[in-house]
Amino acid sequence: MTHTFDSASIRSEFPVMQHCLYLDSAHQTPLANCVRDALNQFLVEGNQMAGPKPVWMARVEETRAKVAKLLNARPTEIAFTKNTSEGLNIAANAVPLKTGDTVLMLEGDHPNNAYAWLNLKRKGVNVRFLKLQDAQVANADTFASHIDESTRVISLSHVTFHAGQRHDIASIGRLCAKAGIYLVVDVMQSIGVLPVDVKAMGVSVLAAGCHKGLLVPQGLGLLFVREDLQELQPAYVAMSSLENPPSDYVARPEDLMLRRDAGRFEFGNFNLPDLHALSRSVDFILRLDPVQIEAHMLSLGDHLLEKLDELGVAVVGPRKRTERAHIYVLDLPVAKWVNHFAQHHVRVSPERGGVRISFGVFNTLDDVDQVVGLIAQRQAQFNVTP
Ligand SMILES: Cc1ncc(COP(=O)(O)O)c(C=O)c1O
Repeated sequence: MTHTFDSASIRSEFPVMQHCLYLDSAHQTPLANCVRDALNQFLVEGNQMAGPKPVWMARVEETRAKVAKLLNARPTEIAFTKNTSEGLNIAANAVPLKTGDTVLMLEGDHPNNAYAWLNLKRKGVNVRFLKLQDAQVANADTFASHIDESTRVISLSHVTFHAGQRHDIASIGRLCAKAGIYLVVDVMQSIGVLPVDVKAMGVSVLAAGCHKGLLVPQGLGLLFVREDLQELQPAYVAMSSLENPPSDYVARPEDLMLRRDAGRFEFGNFNLPDLHALSRSVDFILRLDPVQIEAHMLSLGDHLLEKLDELGVAVVGPRKRTERAHIYVLDLPVAKWVNHFAQHHVRVSPERGGVRISFGVFNTLDDVDQVVGLIAQRQAQFNVTP
């Protein structure tokens, strides 16, 4: 390996690896010790001080600044949400769309993205799904010939959960800028795994949850909204969305002016425990460096592909380094194979196209050898062909 990952110390942060071979980070990641400690700190403060809310709120802003750094955004462009679905629904309802407008998506992309836009059918908005093979990735050419005067939005995942494709968002971003349409990206699978640079990718709005590459428990999401897109307005409003929230807590019908920053899309109290966890996990990820994390994931993928080739097992997704990340779906029939992995304490996921192996920062080349060894063992034992 050519990169500088200190696998042993990273692995010691994840005690679960002493009990199983965890190859399912695309589903959720196990908690790191540093994240557990941040949650514990929050619990102790809540337990012993009945909640120092101003201190906690100051930490929310610190966390916002760290997330902005991770995304190459400004803190004022970051809002906290509940999950990816909430972020995508906020986007779908914020973009000024009217009857006859069209949204372009990819067939088979995550349903939580698709439904956010399909819900706009009630308003007469059309969603067109373009077809793409699992082994292909989308780029500007995928969409260019489908853009017409009704097209207002392209919405897609950065990395797909079902085949591990890593779409070329930057080229799609340039296309959207040229065509004057919005680009909405679901980075649930890529954040914390690849460098995600909102400027380089040219995204208008980006949404993610934090329980995969960002290593925190379910229930917290992120939303990036490009600062100049002031025409994007929230469907829901609470006191926290307002420029001048009433200090006496009496609503003023004459002043409904919204904040100009992404905070206009936030409403009500935050998921404070998870935000404490996120503060620590983003420190951890920035210290490891997303460029190094990406290199590590790709090295694991290189090794896996080489070993699978030796066994004659195909993957359903792309093979080129620039077109993949941490997700590899093996063309093995789920019904025949999933129990085999479970019996050997290997955590993987059943997927549409086969058995999904997905790496986290704690995985090593040795983990790849172990799982490949199990496949070889079963092939030899039962003369099972893929
Ligand atoms: C690409 C993608 N989007 C969204 C989600 C989940 O959406 P939510 O965060 O709303 O649960 C997942 C997986 O859980 C995913 O892989």
